[in-house]
Amino acid sequence: MTKVTIIGAGEVGGSCACALADRDFINELVILDVKDGIAQGKALDMNQSAALKRFDTKLIGVTDDYEATKGSDVIVITSGIARKPGMERSDLVATNARIVFNVSEKAAAVSPDAVIICVSNPLDVLCYSALKATGFPPERVLGMSGLLDIARYKYAISEMLQVSTKDIQALILGGHGKTMVPMPRYTTIGGIPIRMLLSEEKIQEAIHRTQLGGEELIDCLGRSAWYAAGAAICEMVEAVVCDQKRVFPACAYLDGEYGYNDIYLGVPIILGRNGVERIIELELDPDDKKRFEISQEEVRKNLELMKNLLNFN
Ligand code: LAC
Repeated sequence: MTKVTIIGAGEVGGSCACALADRDFINELVILDVKDGIAQGKALDMNQSAALKRFDTKLIGVTDDYEATKGSDVIVITSGIARKPGMERSDLVATNARIVFNVSEKAAAVSPDAVIICVSNPLDVLCYSALKATGFPPERVLGMSGLLDIARYKYAISEMLQVSTKDIQALILGGHGKTMVPMPRYTTIGGIPIRMLLSEEKIQEAIHRTQLGGEELIDCLGRSAWYAAGAAICEMVEAVVCDQKRVFPACAYLDGEYGYNDIYLGVPIILGRNGVERIIELELDPDDKKRFEISQEEVRKNLELMKNLLNFN
C-alpha cells in the first residue's frame, strides 16, 4: 500500500492533493491541518469527485492527528504563512521555521522511513529546519522549487516562441528567490539550443520573468499562488513513490557539491524511492558560477538568521 501525507490543507496543500488524486497512484492520501474542518472538508470534496474523475485514491482529512499519518512513504510539508504583497520570502523565516520544525518532527516520528518534501518558504532555509527536526539522512529531506521555477521559465519561453511547453527542456540552479539561476546553456526546444531560436535580450526577459514569477502572481492574487506549485509537488511525489529516477532540479542538501557545504540549494538531482539518489554536478562557466554564488549568498544569509533563531549552532 502506498501512503502519502500532506501537512497543511491551505491552497498549496489542497492543489497538491487534487493533482495527486487525479494521477491515481496512491492508495491513501492523508491531509493534516491545525484548523479543524478544513482538511476534512477538502478531503470529502475530493473523495466526492472520485466518481467523476475516476480515481481510487482514498483521501483522509485530519486535525493535527499525526497518528493518522503513520507509515507514510512521502510527507509533503506546506505549513506556514503565505507571502502577501510587499513581502519577501525571507520575511517568513521566523514564523515558518518554527512551524516547519514542529510539524516535521511530529510527522517523522511516526513515519521514520519517509521521504520529506518541503514546500514552505523561504524554501531553501526551511528544508534545513526539516532536516534538523527529523534527524533523517539528507537524501530523504528535500525541497520543491526548481520544478515550479522551471515550469514558469518554460511558460515564458513558450509564449515568446509560440511552441508547446512539452518540447522545452531546461535547468535552473540556486535558491528559490529573485537570484535563482535559470540556465540558457542547458535550455533546448525540441533538442535545439535556445540561443539558436531566441535573441539574448529575449532570453534575459524570460529569465527575469521567471525570477519574479512569484511576485507577478502575488500582484494578481494578493498572496502567493498554488496551482503550478501543487502540480510540481505531485511530479516529485510520483517520482519517489513510483521510484521513477526522474532528473530535475530540486532543493537538496549540499555536502561539498558545487563547492558548497551545509546548505540547501537548487541543483539537478535524480529522484527515486530513496529520495535524492544522486546530485548531478555540472561544470559551470564563469558567469553561471558567479550567478550561483550570489544566490548561495542570499540563502546563506537567511540560513544564518534561522540558525540563530532556532539555536541550531
Ligand atoms: C511561489 C511561491 C510559492 O514562487 O514561492 O509562487
